[in-house]
Amino acid sequence: MIKIRIPATTANMGPGFDSFGMALKFYNEIYVEEIENGVEVIQEGKVSPIPLEENLIYTSFIKILNKYGYKYKGFRINIPKCSIPVSRGLGSSAACIVGGICAANILIGNVLSVDDIIKEAVEIEGHPDNIVPAVIGGMVISLINGENIVYSKVNIPQNLRMFVMIPNFKLSTEEARTVLPEKYTKQDCIFNVSRAAMLVNAMNKGELDKLRVSTQDKIHQEYRKELIPDADKIFKEAEKNGSLAEFISGSGSTLMALVDENNKEFKENMTKFLNTLQYNWETHLLEADLEGVVVL
Ligand code: HSE
Repeated sequence: MIKIRIPATTANMGPGFDSFGMALKFYNEIYVEEIENGVEVIQEGKVSPIPLEENLIYTSFIKILNKYGYKYKGFRINIPKCSIPVSRGLGSSAACIVGGICAANILIGNVLSVDDIIKEAVEIEGHPDNIVPAVIGGMVISLINGENIVYSKVNIPQNLRMFVMIPNFKLSTEEARTVLPEKYTKQDCIFNVSRAAMLVNAMNKGELDKLRVSTQDKIHQEYRKELIPDADKIFKEAEKNGSLAEFISGSGSTLMALVDENNKEFKENMTKFLNTLQYNWETHLLEADLEGVVVL
């Protein structure tokens, strides 16, 4: 049986719209085995209600098998661990796509390189920002240059922890993109270019005091906050409790606070505060995942 583990990812990280992403120690696991006929998808012990043609693990997996001419009879796809919630800005689609492609790659004899896996996955997902860290781990800057995906890893300061706040409401990337303007002013472009560059350098050099200004953004967050009730209140409370920076994870609805590991009271204080709000917020204090997708 093929067993794959894929990390959750947080994309954008403030100013790095569609280009920055970081893998987190928060995982889905996908097991694939060949059976005599048919396709079964089991998720956390139950038959998955999602039609096969909408199941990204299955469609990505079959796409690769067909492309490389692999002859098959049937498959059982088991997802025993599905921690990454859907439509919350934590890269659940990227995890499904990368998991499906990596499982297929094993069956076709590992002919796909890391770059091939990334290229195939970005073709399906559309943006590289969740895909690349899900494949190689860490914090990554990625861009699409014609046919190629160019990426580069950024160092992550050792003390940095990601406090993930996941609400009990979904927000699809598609919907969260419709609220964004078509055009931006020169001032907004300068604002984002300077913050994005500063964020990369601050991370590389461990300049935690620059993270707050570096995660500011004019491209997407102000527009998307309208879709995430209490986002501003939560960000203010996080700052009051000593977080280093806050941003919307991917296209939301999850919110993220970057915290120094030594801030021991942060999780408890924030959890207490979040419990006073109208929606339920699940929280996790996570380290960055540095491995990316692994075959177990
Ligand atoms: N960067 C995308 C967005 C989400 O913010 O719309 C992840 O690909």
